[in-house]
Amino acid sequence: MTEPNASAAHSETSTIVLAGATGDLGVRIARHLAQRGATVRALVRLGKTGPAMADLREAGATVVEVDFNSVTALTRACVGADCVVSALSGLRDVIVDTQKRLLDAAVAAEVPRFIPSDYCIDYTKLPVGSNRNLDLRREFNQRLDQAPIQATSILNGMFTDLLTGQAPVILFGPKRVVYWGSADQPLDFTTTENTAEFAAAAALDPSTPRYLRVAGEVASIRDLQRAASAATGQPFKLLWAGSVGVLGALSKLTKALMPASDDVFPPWQGMQYLHNMFTGLPKLAPLDNARYPEIRWTSVREVLATRPPAEK
Ligand SMILES: NC(=O)c1ccc[n+]([C@@H]2O[C@H](COP(=O)([O-])OP(=O)(O)OC[C@H]3O[C@@H](n4cnc5c(N)ncnc54)[C@H](OP(=O)(O)O)[C@@H]3O)[C@@H](O)[C@H]2O)c1
Repeated sequence: MTEPNASAAHSETSTIVLAGATGDLGVRIARHLAQRGATVRALVRLGKTGPAMADLREAGATVVEVDFNSVTALTRACVGADCVVSALSGLRDVIVDTQKRLLDAAVAAEVPRFIPSDYCIDYTKLPVGSNRNLDLRREFNQRLDQAPIQATSILNGMFTDLLTGQAPVILFGPKRVVYWGSADQPLDFTTTENTAEFAAAAALDPSTPRYLRVAGEVASIRDLQRAASAATGQPFKLLWAGSVGVLGALSKLTKALMPASDDVFPPWQGMQYLHNMFTGLPKLAPLDNARYPEIRWTSVREVLATRPPAEK
């Protein structure tokens, strides 16, 4: 656990370049940066339109259209910045190739710090080959470690928001919490909003270490069962679906049977992620939640309580 570290002193004079600014996480990071007094330069693709552009402008960010295929254009966009933050999402062409161009640009523009688009479980503790998307992050971070720039990765477990439907763990219809392995395995959850808030604070903090680990709540399957029951007022039961090995085999089988696609999060990827979490290997420790004491961490129960009443 790191000591509290107020980043506010640096924020008023800091310029942060934000890539992936139009994304779900990116817009939230932009808002939190602006709230902390930073100058936000939001990089967007050439010709980009859509509601996120208005959200960014409303947040006070300066929107800069840039050709992400050009290191020269990206370098121009990075000049004078104190930190480059990436919230890009994608496969190899984005996580390795586009981020590499962004990194080269940050180095060429002499930006002192870089935060890659990690925001996940602790892939440094996972075997290579156990998670396609996290392997791409590992590969990019190996390049980042070779670059003459200070790097900080933010690891936050699973976005708690996914528990309201996308992650097939809490089944609101049959009122079951599905799990593999042990119902007592501690798992890390952080909301997208808290992750953005922490990322903004870290971007404005010049003394961050290589990795920062946070969890809005560390919860076992039994804790999820309690949270779901309390949030809905209905009793949830546990449903054991097999050993952790069974889930690993299931994700491999699903991957083999599904046609290859450019989908960043196909069902088997979610299964790989859950499998990783249930092994306990990527459990985040020690946690750096206290580094920015002003952040209020949202619990699983609070997130589940936001589901519309008909769905609870
Ligand atoms: N821990 C978890 O449970 C969890 C869950 C979800 C996401 N995440 C992570 O959070 C990060 C952000 O994800 P998100 O959900 O905010 O993603 P998102 O909403 O899909 O946004 C992706 C962003 O990347 C930009 N982008 C994609 N391809 C690009 C390219 N080739 N060139 C330039 N920009 C490109 C998009 O721009 P356009 O708007 O122009 O397309 C958008 O701004 C990712 O690292 C993701 O893996 C973690």
